[in-house]
Amino acid sequence: MGTPLTIADLKKRARRRVPKMFFDYADSGAWTEQTYRANESDFGQIKLRQRVMVDMDNRTLETTMVGQKASMPVALAPTGMTGMQHADGEMLAARAAEEFGIPFTLSTMSICSIEDVASVTTKPFWFQLYVMRDRDFVLSLINRAKAAKCSALVLTADLQILAQRHKDLRNGLSAPPKLTPKHLWQMAARPFWCLEMLKTRRHSFGNIIGHAKNVSSISSLSTWTSEQFDPRLSWSDVAWIKEQWGGPLIIKGILDPEDARAAADTGADAIIVSNHGGRQLDGASSTIGMLPKIVDAVGDRIEIHLDGGIRSGQDVLKAVALGATGTYIGRPFLYGLGAMGKQGVTLALEIIRKEMDLTMALCGKRDIKDINSSIIVGRQ
Ligand code: GLV
Repeated sequence: MGTPLTIADLKKRARRRVPKMFFDYADSGAWTEQTYRANESDFGQIKLRQRVMVDMDNRTLETTMVGQKASMPVALAPTGMTGMQHADGEMLAARAAEEFGIPFTLSTMSICSIEDVASVTTKPFWFQLYVMRDRDFVLSLINRAKAAKCSALVLTADLQILAQRHKDLRNGLSAPPKLTPKHLWQMAARPFWCLEMLKTRRHSFGNIIGHAKNVSSISSLSTWTSEQFDPRLSWSDVAWIKEQWGGPLIIKGILDPEDARAAADTGADAIIVSNHGGRQLDGASSTIGMLPKIVDAVGDRIEIHLDGGIRSGQDVLKAVALGATGTYIGRPFLYGLGAMGKQGVTLALEIIRKEMDLTMALCGKRDIKDINSSIIVGRQ
């Protein structure tokens, strides 16, 4: 295999490096996975406008997300169990993002803790919050993120109840992995992964174990979420979170214009148009399909970001053209991480940056801030 040139190349490599249960976890969508697929394929319907004979020299992708500088409009998405794609995965990905000059978002359901990531980074990262029934624990997470100098809080709204992911159930997913013959076999087939895992003590949920009351282990993500996540979470809770946090707040998991208006009413700084990477409501529209409707509803009131289905720099450019000022990649960086560790995360970012830069030039533009719907000719 030569040097990976695309995110799809990194995915192929990751499949060969990461034990099946964890590769499948990243690659899963809910039920039939139609929304997972639509997130990707709907980008393909949007056609770009080719322009020639315009000055394409001196291009820049630099921008801001919630007022913070980013070398391109891409952040690393909060992804669960990243430290199971590669040992100490969150620490490696955070360092790669920092060096690249883009935001890294640490998930509540990470393997490395907030403090672990803070100990290996020099610039602020972002923290993603799930709201549990135990509000003392939620408050302690917010305070730990503050103590770690996180510079934005990403509140996830669309996973108070976990949808069903068939692959995870069939694989018997857990962290640490169970030591049944099936799991042992899956791990033994990935010796490099095992070797790296033996070098770290971080094998379970670092933000939770030893922090949440009466939780000494998490048998499975589905049991933990159904027992602990608060299904009554509502807009009125956002005011409390905003007050406790006191910094930039981003609400993630908005797919409907009415919810977008409610999110804007909370005074949050940004929303992420997201269907959780097709991992929650299967049958929902793709995020790129809903983006224009949400921009129409609240584009003049709140910063709009998007995740879901981005597999290339062209996809980022299309999202920006349709009104997103920032995007997030989840699976693309996980594939890089699983395939090649920190270097693979950097490579995923380089692939996306190069695609975005060249595509912008071929559309006749030099500055990402000048990208708007004029670079789109239609949908086919
Ligand atoms: C957690 O955020 C998941 O989607 O598994």
